[in-house]
Amino acid sequence: MRNFRPVKSLVLLGCLLAFTIHIPAQSAAISSAEAHRRAEALLKQMNLDEKIGQMNQAAGMVIPGLGGDKPDDLIAKGGVGSVLWLIDVKEINRLQHLAVEKSRLHIPILFAFDVIHGYRTAFPVPLAMASSWDPSVEEAAQRYAGQDARAAGILWTFTPMVDIARDARWGRIVEGAGEDPYLGAAMARAQVRGFQGETVGPDSVLVCVKHFAGYGAAEGGRDYDSSYIPEELMQNVYLVPFHAAADAGAGSFMSAYMDLNDVPASGNHWLLSDVLRNQWGYKGFVVSDAFAVGSLQVHGFAKDPEDAALKGVSAGLNMDMASGTYVKNISKLVSAGKITVAQLDEMVLPILEAKYKLGLFDHPYVDESKVETTLNRPEGRELSRKLASRSMVLLKNEHNTLPLRKDLKKIAVIGPLADSTHDIEGGWTVEGLFGGGGKSHPVTVFAALKALLPGAEITAVPGPVPGKTFLGMVDQFSGGKPVPPPTPEETADWLSKVKSAAADADTVIAVMGEMASMSSEAASRASMNLPGIQEQMLEAAVASGKPVVLVLENGRPVDINWASQHVPAILEAWFPGTEGGNAVADVLFGEVNPGGKLPISWAHSAGEEPLYYNHNLTHEPEDRPNFTSRYWDVASKPLYPFGYGLSYTNFKFENLKLGKASVKAGEATEVRVDVTNSGGVAGDAVAQVYIHQRSGSASRPVRQLEGFKRVALKPGEKQTLTFTLGKNELQFWDPQTKKWVVEPSTFDVWAGEDSTATLHAELTVTQ
Ligand code: NOJ
Repeated sequence: MRNFRPVKSLVLLGCLLAFTIHIPAQSAAISSAEAHRRAEALLKQMNLDEKIGQMNQAAGMVIPGLGGDKPDDLIAKGGVGSVLWLIDVKEINRLQHLAVEKSRLHIPILFAFDVIHGYRTAFPVPLAMASSWDPSVEEAAQRYAGQDARAAGILWTFTPMVDIARDARWGRIVEGAGEDPYLGAAMARAQVRGFQGETVGPDSVLVCVKHFAGYGAAEGGRDYDSSYIPEELMQNVYLVPFHAAADAGAGSFMSAYMDLNDVPASGNHWLLSDVLRNQWGYKGFVVSDAFAVGSLQVHGFAKDPEDAALKGVSAGLNMDMASGTYVKNISKLVSAGKITVAQLDEMVLPILEAKYKLGLFDHPYVDESKVETTLNRPEGRELSRKLASRSMVLLKNEHNTLPLRKDLKKIAVIGPLADSTHDIEGGWTVEGLFGGGGKSHPVTVFAALKALLPGAEITAVPGPVPGKTFLGMVDQFSGGKPVPPPTPEETADWLSKVKSAAADADTVIAVMGEMASMSSEAASRASMNLPGIQEQMLEAAVASGKPVVLVLENGRPVDINWASQHVPAILEAWFPGTEGGNAVADVLFGEVNPGGKLPISWAHSAGEEPLYYNHNLTHEPEDRPNFTSRYWDVASKPLYPFGYGLSYTNFKFENLKLGKASVKAGEATEVRVDVTNSGGVAGDAVAQVYIHQRSGSASRPVRQLEGFKRVALKPGEKQTLTFTLGKNELQFWDPQTKKWVVEPSTFDVWAGEDSTATLHAELTVTQ
């Protein structure tokens, strides 16, 4: 398996980490051996029901339609090892007192929640943070989020989501690092480091790497749908970031919802035991996704709940999230001799070890007096703003439309996202997820512009909230209602408002994209257009003849074909978080020079999905005149390629040199390339190295990323960057021998600014 070199993202790291304040350790970390010793000793005292209890994760809140009784009685009997979906610290402490004081062995509960991109202060969504091409962004965000979570009693987060997503129709693409295994592995490792630190200890939040595995390949991009992935694709692509996270010490994994090659992931022995435990030597524990053990019956895989529990345990699934199937059925299975106590001990041990390592036995309760001050630390906002601007991608900038001048007198700000506090943070915000919200006070683009330019006249024309034909998850839980599309009269009215605001303005800033609820779980889209009348509003603004800047807030690439031809400047801000508006303003007015790059290929339309740069060559490659593999009605290339992003300056890449032009299989060579800031302002370049194996025992991708570095360069400054190509970068899992191999072959090597880089060298690998 590939064992990627850590990417040294030194740029601004010191500056970013300066924002994470030191929160003193509660007690000293203990070694894995000591945690193991203590867990074993405790296990010896436990009866069968108490063991089963540790394998049960109960819902801490009643979710309409999904059940969930208050778990008090069960907790007092030691029947609950973990509780999820609870952030009320008083209730956390109440339940913890029950566990610690009333249960026979006083084992504390591990409280868990989805702390995905910040706790109270939201950082940019994960897809945005991956666009920074700077793992220190993820690390700093997750370290900060972990400090908040820990102070609020959440010691276990269901992060990172490391699913490779090659199909942007899939709503959960927003939660991961995009389509590439190398970039995904770097971002996975950074998140593990951010939450857990060097090792799991009393300052850590335990991570949960999800969704193991293949969830991103759901058929048709429909969430939860089956995935069919041959082993070579699993090994070479989908499993890569999972393995990187496991090697980085990730404390737990989450099994996915869907069928993988007809076997549900939560009952999949190949995944949970053969690959994770036996091939990778993983020592942590695996929790199912919510209700997934119960769903083994829904899949038509288990005949009843008892069979579902048997299939989960037999596959190697330690903990049942929320379905109650384990707690209700395992003792029957033990009595029937279908599950042994030794099997259960193996399942329970790593759960107890994690609790010891986290220091939970020493400090089970939340210090309620410190929660609000921790969650409201002002440095979190400063960090959020920096990380957001560092994650933005400049897609187009004709005639140097950007940066804007600060002496603008009149600005028209149009679009439904311009002043939407509900959307700018994106989905999966801890306090907003189920309708709590309201405590982070997000800054919208409109609010930020008004604060930045108090003397300017800034007019907002939001237009209608795009009508929804489907209610996204956030809305379901917050009780939101579907919004009917505007009538023709309302549409005409909005468009005339755009026309007159634009006619009267020096510049138009359109803030458009998708509502936050259109991305994330159960939020797949069959079309990727700009929903509602946004494009008509954009057309009306452009028709005014005034300069128009399009700022996108969205969780996946959207169809901006028209805009890419007619709007002079386009900035991809994704869902940039609590300080998103200020961060957008920083980039629009040149305080920050954008340096983010796309972690996904940007399709013209949904019909091209799945679209990814690291595909194989076909019988008729796409650059042939006829019979090409691509489409009759759209260009063969994506609208914007993987790795793409502009800057307010220009970079020149030259002198690509290999340390050795020929190496033996298993040896490494250095790759050097010079990058110069050839423009007039300081900026960040992201150097990217791609390879292609020309022949061998399997067809290999036309290009694959095997190195990247983000560097800050002053005008005129040149740096020589070095990368390594060795076993980890050159090997692949060979479908014929079913082994990892480095084969004698000729390799193309490219270095440059994106996945279309042309600077080329040739590497020969011999036997
Ligand atoms: C379901 C989601 O698929 C998963 O990502 C999440 O962590 C769990 N629910 C818990 O909220």
